[in-house]
Amino acid sequence: MSESTRLRELLRPGRIGPLETRNRIVMAPMGSFLAEEDGHLNERHKLYYETRAKGGVGLVIVEVAAVDFPRGAAMFRQIGLSDDSFIPGLVDLAERIHRHGAKVSIQLQHAGKIATRDLADGRPLSVPSADIPMPMAGVLADLTADEIQQIVKNYERLPEGGSLVHELSVQEIQEIVTRFAEAASRAKQAGFDGVEIHAGHGYLIAEFLSQASNKRQDHYGGKLENRARILLEVIGAIRKVVGQDFPVWCRLDGKEFGIEDGITVEDARQTAKLAEEAGLNAIHVSAYGGPSGIGFTEATLVHPKAGLLPLAAGIKKVVRVPVIAVGRITPEQGERALREGQADFIAMARPLLADPELPNKLAAGRPEDIRPCIYCYTCVGQIFVNQSLRCAVNPATAREAEFEIEKSEAPKQVLVVGGGPAGMEAARVAALRGHQVTLCEKQRRLGGTALFSSLVWEENGDLVDYLRTQIEKLPIDLRLGQEVTPETVAELQPDVTLLAVGAKREAPAIRGVERRSVLSGDELRQIMAGAPNRVTAAKLSLWQRALLWAGHTFLGLADHPSRVRELSKRWMPVGKRVAVIGGGLVGLELAEFLVKRGRHVTVLEEGEWLAPQMAIPRRWRTLHELREHGAVLLTGVRFEAIQEKGMAIISKEGDPRTIEADSVILAAGVVPNRDLYEAIRARDLEVHLLGDCSKLSYIEGSILDGARIGRAI
Ligand SMILES: Cc1cc2nc3c(=O)[nH]c(=O)nc-3n(C[C@H](O)[C@H](O)[C@H](O)COP(=O)(O)O)c2cc1C
Ligand code: SF4
Repeated sequence: MSESTRLRELLRPGRIGPLETRNRIVMAPMGSFLAEEDGHLNERHKLYYETRAKGGVGLVIVEVAAVDFPRGAAMFRQIGLSDDSFIPGLVDLAERIHRHGAKVSIQLQHAGKIATRDLADGRPLSVPSADIPMPMAGVLADLTADEIQQIVKNYERLPEGGSLVHELSVQEIQEIVTRFAEAASRAKQAGFDGVEIHAGHGYLIAEFLSQASNKRQDHYGGKLENRARILLEVIGAIRKVVGQDFPVWCRLDGKEFGIEDGITVEDARQTAKLAEEAGLNAIHVSAYGGPSGIGFTEATLVHPKAGLLPLAAGIKKVVRVPVIAVGRITPEQGERALREGQADFIAMARPLLADPELPNKLAAGRPEDIRPCIYCYTCVGQIFVNQSLRCAVNPATAREAEFEIEKSEAPKQVLVVGGGPAGMEAARVAALRGHQVTLCEKQRRLGGTALFSSLVWEENGDLVDYLRTQIEKLPIDLRLGQEVTPETVAELQPDVTLLAVGAKREAPAIRGVERRSVLSGDELRQIMAGAPNRVTAAKLSLWQRALLWAGHTFLGLADHPSRVRELSKRWMPVGKRVAVIGGGLVGLELAEFLVKRGRHVTVLEEGEWLAPQMAIPRRWRTLHELREHGAVLLTGVRFEAIQEKGMAIISKEGDPRTIEADSVILAAGVVPNRDLYEAIRARDLEVHLLGDCSKLSYIEGSILDGARIGRAI
């Protein structure tokens, strides 16, 4: 079946009121932190949107725009819509999006208690009730000192002597309602095709909707009809200024997760019905779970696949207007949801950061060419610390002008050594530019450490598959199982050598590190993939080796990470109690893998912070999972010795302690591997370092290096 038949519903035109879209893929709104501090758009910002329109989406919903800018803005660099000076920039943006056949709307927002900009400017936060819960401690939990410093900037000018929050009077509510209407009118004047009212994610309108934050005694509080009043008034006021023919819809939380007295599924359905009666043309169903901890990844940026779809399906049952579903929905799941009548449009956020060309590639029947999102939360983690959007797998996101691929005027012979993400990305880009590329990988498969890491973070495997497919499609001389030495380089005589050989492991200088009960994270993954080297294999008993050989030979374990993940639920070469040395990204990923397989894990970290390399929301999620499974997480420890049945350490408080453990896993002591680099340089040949052999920077740094150097040579 062709792709366009397989995804017939997704790729078919859609309609929201009078608005017609070329397909039913919507770019979900994403605050990008790209606007100027005065709320105006700049070239970089416009190009970021234009690129996504060009990529084939049916409808772009431009990110949160502050209707009362700078009041009520959620971030420093947010679009403003509060006066006519914003119109010319928006006219240009709308034209550039239209030029590529997409439709465009914009999200109207007042951030209420999350209006960071208000606090930064010394204004109290506008809220429905003065006793609104402010979970600040949760937001700062598990953040590093640097991150806290970035966030604290937002609170430097707290309202002097006064309260942090200001309960809105009825007159002030009316003024905000008017601001929404004026902002909608400006969007219409600027040539936008519709507006989305942001009535979710804990922002002002959602604060009114939620009993958790609305304790008002007047006609804006109490029963749902009252709590929904501000939303209904906003809809009415907008309709008055834009007329009946201009599409207006809202984003609602289908539920507030883990918030006492939060919005229930029933509340959300009733609100949707009221909003429809008030004249909306569609309902966009998201969810909220608080700005910290597990809530963020359970709801707003949902981690479970298609995790919010049931909420959209529930609302679809009670309204007649189209429903937009969102939340980690793949094209296939989206197609199914459309066919089954669970939704009318599928919004995507992160997948379009990872690959803006996703809709065009689907339409062209090339799904294998879509660069996948690995759900690492780097993009949104940036916004948390007041930095512009970026994507770990797509360096061109929000840097579109920097990352064009241009043909080389002087094609070269390029040797790429190492087939992990850095090497594959560099080879891909260099080949697209017309260079003659040879890619050597010493293993018999491409993927490098990312392939092993996909055992514990499944999503990394999708990226490896994508890159491998691109390498196979391009005219690249791929040599698997080929170890490169300085002699090989001399023999191949490349014009330039790109070294992407990754990191090397140096066992930490801890007494007892040579014990058989000690494995490095890599050794564990190698064993589980059925491909241990000789040193590692020596740590296994005879029957364990036989078992692995059988798995490797008959089940093809090494080529099927999903089989290894399954097998590891039944068997792993580690005891019941495991001490993991190193609480960085690798250590915590491994620890999560182990606790989910019934191991009692203690993570021991010398430094002060756990996994600073993980984007904040992912770190919150991982730490939550570990704590839920009873893992012990110790920072600031010193290692004394690895013993027969445990680890002797000195705790942060300076006390000697013994951590009981049957196995010890080393997830620290990794350093860039520069051995080959020095040898090649000594021969006066052009050579560049990429990825972990340049500096430990994991997938994001590896892809970035590959992308940059592939373009630079
Ligand atoms: C970087 C980033 C910024 C976001 N900003 C907004 C926003 O401005 N308004 C909004 O309603 N949702 C925002 N979201 C949530 C997305 O619109 C979307 O609901 C969520 O990412 C789930 O969709 P996905 O799984 O396709 O990424 C943001 C998401 C990301 C990744
Ligand atoms: S940064 Fe990570 S989560 Fe965000 S879009 Fe890119 S790959 Fe996906």
